[in-house]
Amino acid sequence: MSKKTIKDIQIEDKTILVRVDFNVPLKDGQISDDNRIVAAIPTIKYLLDNNAKVVLCSHLGKIKNEEDKEKNNLKVVVPRLSELLGVEVKFSNEVVGESASNLIKGLKRGEVLLLQNTRFEPGESKNDPDLASKLSEGIDVFVNDAFGSSHRKHASTYGVVEVLKGEGKESAIGFLVEKEVKALNRCVEAKIKPFVAVLGGAKVSDKIKVIDGLLEKADKLIIGGAMSYTFLKALGYEIGKSRVEEDQIEYAKNCLDKAKGKIILPIDHIIADDFQNPTKINVSMDQNINEEYLGVDIGPRTINYFKEELNGSKMVFWNGPMGVFEVDNFANGTKEIAKAIGSLENAFSVIGGGDSAAASKKFGFSELFSHISTGGGASLEMIENDGHLPGIDIIEDKQGEHNED
Ligand code: 3PG
Repeated sequence: MSKKTIKDIQIEDKTILVRVDFNVPLKDGQISDDNRIVAAIPTIKYLLDNNAKVVLCSHLGKIKNEEDKEKNNLKVVVPRLSELLGVEVKFSNEVVGESASNLIKGLKRGEVLLLQNTRFEPGESKNDPDLASKLSEGIDVFVNDAFGSSHRKHASTYGVVEVLKGEGKESAIGFLVEKEVKALNRCVEAKIKPFVAVLGGAKVSDKIKVIDGLLEKADKLIIGGAMSYTFLKALGYEIGKSRVEEDQIEYAKNCLDKAKGKIILPIDHIIADDFQNPTKINVSMDQNINEEYLGVDIGPRTINYFKEELNGSKMVFWNGPMGVFEVDNFANGTKEIAKAIGSLENAFSVIGGGDSAAASKKFGFSELFSHISTGGGASLEMIENDGHLPGIDIIEDKQGEHNED
């Protein structure tokens, strides 16, 4: 670990801007999963216990219009955050501006202030230097504890660090980012063998670069979920009404050529005439899917086949469900594969965030894994980019250490 951590910096009496990832799922205006808030608590507590004045900032959702702003007011996290910290969290309705600035100036040691959703400022996603410089006002130190947003080169994840550096001020990573980087770097370095990667989910196009990266690093690449239908079609199988990305078939063919047998695909499927209101649910005879049906999960023979392929592996990276796990009838493949990965003996098992993390939680398997990342996009990009993410690269190295690349 070559990045400065919060243990390497002077904290006492400093005003510290902490970028957290409080981009939590909301249902009917309430937090439906507080995992990301819980994951940020150790860093915030450490800073407060060491007499810092803590200013938190985060985005929430995608903001395109006023309606999005109403739905994604970051104030929603204040009660839960205050409860978890045991401290009353102050809230600034502005990200930057006079009232935010006054609230920052008024902070006392051991107090914490949360700024409004950074994406309410149009300059955030453009990494606007003006916004970055406003965010740095009154700040002594920057801490990145937002692993899930570290693949974004935005004003609150990147630009503000540049501004503070220019003023000779320090930056560091928090405990959450430190833990994530340590775990995911083991997959990037791929020294633990056999290393098996399991990919699922809907879109090949979202995962093209990670497939390329994993084909180089992993000993096997198991592909399930809707993305497997594009690969099966590339091999000439019938896939019925299943979801397929026609424009990725050539890419899938190239991968299969390059993989020289490393890619493991389903050998049967759970099939239905419709995934929302199915009237017919069946198991396919083999890889082929009849034209009346679409694939909704991996089949029982595939579950056994994938389990055999996982057997004996010492490191597994898993991202993406094996089927439509949100529907109970189509959740079995994801559940069985999650259990199989989590039950491997003496293996280092990592879930790369997103739907797979939600699935493991739904099935009650979270405790079985060595690491569950809080960042879906970030963990995939970290593997794609050989361990590099802009929001982490920009943080200072520990003294006496220097990153060559
Ligand atoms: C995530 O949920 O993956 C992170 O919070 C990043 O969110 P974004 O994809 O909206 O930038």
